[in-house]
Amino acid sequence: MLSTQKSDLIPEKWYNVVPDLPEQLPPPLDNEKNKSSIELLNSILPKEVLKQEFTFQRFLKIPDEVREIYEQTGRPTPLVRARGLEKYLDYSGKILYKYEGATITGSHKINTAVPQAIYAANEGVEKVVTETGAGQWGTATSVAASFAGIKAKVFMVRISYQQKPLRKKIMQLYGGEVSPSPSDETEFGRSMLKQNPDHPGSLGIGIGEAVEYALDHNLRYLVGSVFNSVLTHQSIIGLETEKQLEIMGTEPDVLIGCVGGGSNFGGFSFPLMKKFKDVEVIASTAAEVPKFTKGEYKYDYVDTARILPSVKMFSLGADFMPEKIYAGGLRYHGAAPSLSMLVNTGRIKTVDESQESVIEALKIFSRTQGIVAAPESGHAIATAIDYVRSHKDERKTVVVNVSGHGLLDMSIFRDDQ
Ligand SMILES: Cc1ncc(COP(=O)(O)O)c(C=O)c1O
Repeated sequence: MLSTQKSDLIPEKWYNVVPDLPEQLPPPLDNEKNKSSIELLNSILPKEVLKQEFTFQRFLKIPDEVREIYEQTGRPTPLVRARGLEKYLDYSGKILYKYEGATITGSHKINTAVPQAIYAANEGVEKVVTETGAGQWGTATSVAASFAGIKAKVFMVRISYQQKPLRKKIMQLYGGEVSPSPSDETEFGRSMLKQNPDHPGSLGIGIGEAVEYALDHNLRYLVGSVFNSVLTHQSIIGLETEKQLEIMGTEPDVLIGCVGGGSNFGGFSFPLMKKFKDVEVIASTAAEVPKFTKGEYKYDYVDTARILPSVKMFSLGADFMPEKIYAGGLRYHGAAPSLSMLVNTGRIKTVDESQESVIEALKIFSRTQGIVAAPESGHAIATAIDYVRSHKDERKTVVVNVSGHGLLDMSIFRDDQ
């Protein structure tokens, strides 16, 4: 008998894809600039996160306190049949979407912020520190730290800090301490401000400041994407979807998600790929950041500041300066090593979506489903719409991960749209 009790839908274990990859994952390496970048991880990551980063264990127990908080954050998130969109596209197959926008912070980022903050608090630190670009990750970190009874310090890219006052306010409301980066609170930040007092900042500089601050104050640093441990925490998305599909009596033919660093995509698709061996899998990226189609599969720096280790991944180069697109969360030069390997072997296909098709997809989705999706998630929706249009008569079941809502990104729409 299948249980439909909400809490029973939240899995007891996360899934780690690493032992199921077709080849052994190339290890992270120290880089030229920082000869002890791997050692650095030992001092700044919560110990449990570090252990999870390098484990070959396939399933990892979700601590009870994390499961309880997951329930408070809105888990399980809904898996919805998109009947309005099916009708609009005149599709005789099925379109389903997993809606991570239904979490309290409005995106999937909370799924990893919670365990990381709990692990840090259990080690006795009073504060965690991180950087944020568009603000979703800083928001998730701020509330997760409050839930764990500790503080969060967030270095927010200065230009976003100025342009997105609501994001800053939410972080502060959740108890986060937000500093525009570059700041005068770290040596790295001060050196940047010396070069340019009006420096707009960047994610790379934010990482540099957060890591320095964590080291100087003996705090723990929380990671928002790319790392194996983060994808493992995000597997909650795919594992819930698996149970929800079972309850619906449906099997997926196609999985679609968007890729910034790869955490929502990996978390959604990897558990489902394990269960449904022949499922077609498509990663949707921004045409302005074409990491899979124009990037190379090679060792590259995780961060622009070259502080963290190098990993083997698809990358446009750590110095790649992406255009300013609406989907701030997709402006990352690389993609998680496990995901990159599966793209390289051809198991996962990729599509680049332009801003115009994303805006169009967001409009269609809001009018047919009533959901204002995040611009990042708009890429996945655009790819799903394209897929359905070009496979009209195949009656497939297409499952899309909608990683967040876009209610704080409404400025991307013109008044007449
Ligand atoms: C709503 C949303 N979706 C997707 C992403 C991309 O990140 P990732 O590829 O790690 O899921 C972000 C990143 O900020 C985001 O906020």
